[in-house]
Amino acid sequence: MAWKKHDQKALRKKVFEHLNQNISYKKNNILGLPGSYLDRKVFFKASFLKDAPFLTCMLENSNHIGCHTFDESEEVFSGTQKLEYELLKICAEEFLQATPRTWDGYLAPGGTEANIQAMWIFRNFFLQQGAKIDEIAIVHSQDTHYSVYKAADLLNVDNICIKTDDVTKQINLVDLLEKIENAQLHNKKFFIFILNMGTTMFGSIDDIDEIRGVLDALGDNCKVHVDAAFGGFIYPLTNPNNKLSFLDPQIHSFSMDAHKMLQAPYGTGIFLVRRPFMQYARTKQASYVHGEDYTICGSRSGANAVAVWMILNSYGPQDGKKFVRSLIQLTDYLCEQLTKLNIEYFRDPFMNVVSVPAHAISKQVAQKFFLVPDNHESPKWWKIVIMDHVTKVALSEFIDQL
Ligand SMILES: Cc1ncc(COP(=O)(O)O)c(C=O)c1O
Repeated sequence: MAWKKHDQKALRKKVFEHLNQNISYKKNNILGLPGSYLDRKVFFKASFLKDAPFLTCMLENSNHIGCHTFDESEEVFSGTQKLEYELLKICAEEFLQATPRTWDGYLAPGGTEANIQAMWIFRNFFLQQGAKIDEIAIVHSQDTHYSVYKAADLLNVDNICIKTDDVTKQINLVDLLEKIENAQLHNKKFFIFILNMGTTMFGSIDDIDEIRGVLDALGDNCKVHVDAAFGGFIYPLTNPNNKLSFLDPQIHSFSMDAHKMLQAPYGTGIFLVRRPFMQYARTKQASYVHGEDYTICGSRSGANAVAVWMILNSYGPQDGKKFVRSLIQLTDYLCEQLTKLNIEYFRDPFMNVVSVPAHAISKQVAQKFFLVPDNHESPKWWKIVIMDHVTKVALSEFIDQL
């Protein structure tokens, strides 16, 4: 098993060992790179840094440009790139059940980029199969994150938005069938499906089996990306029957966000894709980058990879599960209290998100507890996300106000 718990001393030792495998701006004569350690006037040296591997990595400022699941990539920072590979391996193989060496990926700036990267890859794949750009469509539910609309705009691909059921929040099959049929009548032949492991507003999980018939009928002319930016670090641990994983041959890629559930620094989205699809994002002109570039963003901080690696490895699977279970228990408590008050809500039982219709909570209370609306101008729903800092006391105060 790649994912196991390390004590803090072992964690520090491993990070420093890998950091020392990088070529260092301090110790080596690096003349060819447009990068350096962080500014010396602003970022001071402190004796505690020897005990602070993440901060030291930030100061050393390694660049993880390129894709480090390939054999060849930029050699200067190969030490910390190995930690990026290790954390991706945990996500792909432990959380999402991939078979070793059947996937690629990278640590992206966030879920937005990881989603766009997936659609970019599948658009290019279809184009290389001979598709014309106006024969390709992105299919997603109305509860999908706005990054999918951004991708459609950037990639010049039409999008098809499918209604979801008011109560279950599942994709409406009748609407899906009608819209696919209509799209086919209008010359669409290739489809990029976006499924959600945790929608932004409801934390709802799309049931792939409900749309299996559609995917089967489209066969090789469709690719499925799962946006697990919200649920990727919780749902696979809480639901032993999670269907959205690499075990399903119809799913081709995933986004996850370590800067949400995993409490990593911002800039830690994760993109994972089946081999050999990453090559469809290859930019041959990136010839000055050793191993070339396959990512949208290019340069990115190696310290972020170290932070995610450290979080995963200081928990290990057992403590990771214990942590998410405690969040689920607290979410259960909130739901019990709402039920007692006869307040309706939507919640997937394996998620830490509860959405309450706007009429049930006054704007004043929603604002006091910083609840997030689906729409700031005319809210229909408020959402509550149970994170590490949320306590039973805070929830009780909220319930009292209701
Ligand atoms: C389901 C989903 N996907 C993608 C994103 C985008 O993530 P980021 O803000 O990290 O780009 C979000 C953000 O909330 C999200 O909820």
